[in-house]
Amino acid sequence: MLAISPIVRALRAAHVRDAPRAELLRLACEKIRGLGAPYTSVYAYMLQGDELVLEAFSGRETEHTRIPVGRGVCGTAVATGEDQNVADVGVVGNYLACNLETKSELVVLIRRGHTILGQLDVDSDVPAAFTVAHHEAVKAVADALAVLL
Ligand code: SME
Repeated sequence: MLAISPIVRALRAAHVRDAPRAELLRLACEKIRGLGAPYTSVYAYMLQGDELVLEAFSGRETEHTRIPVGRGVCGTAVATGEDQNVADVGVVGNYLACNLETKSELVVLIRRGHTILGQLDVDSDVPAAFTVAHHEAVKAVADALAVLL
């Protein structure tokens, strides 16, 4: 297991001192990225109606601040209800690129029961970067956010 429980602890501590939603999301993004490689950039997209809206991020800026459900890797995760672990973004037909450096991408849904609240979208400059352990680690943060937001 990667060093995730300190992140969940930090999120709970922020929640206890009434940190607003934006701060919790920013903290989650910053702390995941702070783990270092293979995490390059981390984005929190939250579902507002039928669009994913970028509410916080850490790393490279992206022009994709609103993504319709069904579009790109992010929108596909919501449309299918499945997390997405894309080993090679170059072979994904509807991939929405925000830079040329990103080689692989992991999208983990933030779910409360059957409701999808949003997602954590993690980019890596390393091809096929994300293992099952990385997926579980990011999911632990997503699950904590689902309770705290
Ligand atoms: N690559 C994503 C878009 C989000 S940016 O990478 C931050 C997609 O295909 O949905």
